[in-house]
Amino acid sequence: MAYEISVNPSKTVKPVSKYIYGHFTEHLGRCIYGGIYEEGSPLSDHRGFRKDVLEAIKKIKVPILRWPGGNFVSNYHWEDGIGPKDQRPVRFDLAWQQEETNRFGTDEFIEYCREIKAEPYICVNLGTGTLDEALHWLEYCNGKGNTYYAQLRRKYGHPEPYNVKFWGIGNEMYGEWQVGHMTADEYARVAKEYAKWMKVFDPSIKTIAVGCDDHEWNLKVLNQAGDVFDYISYHFYTGSENYYETVSTVYLLEQRLIGLKRLIETSRTKRRNEIKIALDEWNVWYRVMDNKLEEPYDLTDGIFACGVLIMLQRISDIVPIANLAQLVNALGAIHTEKNGIILTPVYKAFELIVNHSGEKLVETIVETETYDIEGKMFYFKTPFKVYDAKLLDATATISEDGKKLYLAVVNYNKDSEIRCPIKIKGCGKKQAKVYVLNGPDIKARNTLEKPNVVDIVEKTTIVDEEFEFTFEPHSCTVIEVER
Ligand code: AHR
Repeated sequence: MAYEISVNPSKTVKPVSKYIYGHFTEHLGRCIYGGIYEEGSPLSDHRGFRKDVLEAIKKIKVPILRWPGGNFVSNYHWEDGIGPKDQRPVRFDLAWQQEETNRFGTDEFIEYCREIKAEPYICVNLGTGTLDEALHWLEYCNGKGNTYYAQLRRKYGHPEPYNVKFWGIGNEMYGEWQVGHMTADEYARVAKEYAKWMKVFDPSIKTIAVGCDDHEWNLKVLNQAGDVFDYISYHFYTGSENYYETVSTVYLLEQRLIGLKRLIETSRTKRRNEIKIALDEWNVWYRVMDNKLEEPYDLTDGIFACGVLIMLQRISDIVPIANLAQLVNALGAIHTEKNGIILTPVYKAFELIVNHSGEKLVETIVETETYDIEGKMFYFKTPFKVYDAKLLDATATISEDGKKLYLAVVNYNKDSEIRCPIKIKGCGKKQAKVYVLNGPDIKARNTLEKPNVVDIVEKTTIVDEEFEFTFEPHSCTVIEVER
């Protein structure tokens, strides 16, 4: 049989980490200014937060938000962004070559996170920054005592500590594009100092080291500094004009994450602590390379995003944190105009999966046809190969109370529907809700004038212990069963 999905809801495999549905906002182009924050806009509230953007963000229940970069952070001095707004200095950002007004800083970021109920994740400056500066930032955020920066936070109207739990120690420090980039040995030495002393100030924080595709870099970091880190990061950008080249890289990403996990295990002989992976930047990015990065996402990109989310549900024990790069405008899931917003197909992928998934992964076996592909990905057309890419992929999750089962299925076939036999062990005959994310064709996009070309359509179907369902071409479907 070419296709079959078998689900055993009573066999809970593992919990799904809630942080895999995370996002990233960087001071890049119009992500912050003109994106989440637009002072003086009739669409903004008294704090300058765009209300339409806030509403959209709340709908996708962002669990963790990374900030302020990205490349930006490697020349960001956080103290420029606190205190009375009119006294904050305007600086030139080397990373994206634009002026930074600093009107959105730490206090505004924390306020934003509280408003959307996201856990803040701050990345510190290892480019032009210092250890002192990072320690002071941590003290400003988490200090409980009578010290200078904790008092400064209180002076600026925030008596309670922010308790920022996640701290990234630098961003992509391996790359020449990064201000102050380093060799692996240099990074491992410096990063260890930062993470070690930051943990002395606040032992409750979780630290994230910079990782990459270079095994040598990763091993050096893990072996020389791994004992003070909880996570190692990995970034993944992909995509091309070719549909299958884009969607097949879900599996390339999966292989790379599993490869990194193996490397972490190899390095473990030298330390006792467990290190997990933070996929803290991922997205499609192949169309634009300027200082705005307003990539116009289409259905192909949305299908890719659905694929990544369900793949992450499967491996969230090894990759408990993931952040889409990025949330608004710059590689943005949401696109803003002066008079409204566009929810891209990538946003729609989050809307579908986040709102129709359970907290526990259950056993799911997928029989599917596969294909092999060689292609080029990302803006720089990096060659890649994927073998046995699945045309149909699925995960099943159940809610914490066990009352709802969610079967999420991606049909990657761009031309044909797939009629698929489905077995759900112990499921009686009943009506179930169905949510389908799709659009007229793989290049379909949403616009201000036509906001729902790519959208989630709700239907119902009859499910049973054994039944058949037809999955539309280039679609992602969730079948939601009450138990
Ligand atoms: O997300 C855009 C950029 O991509 C980030 O600033 C950087 O970390 C990565 O190279």
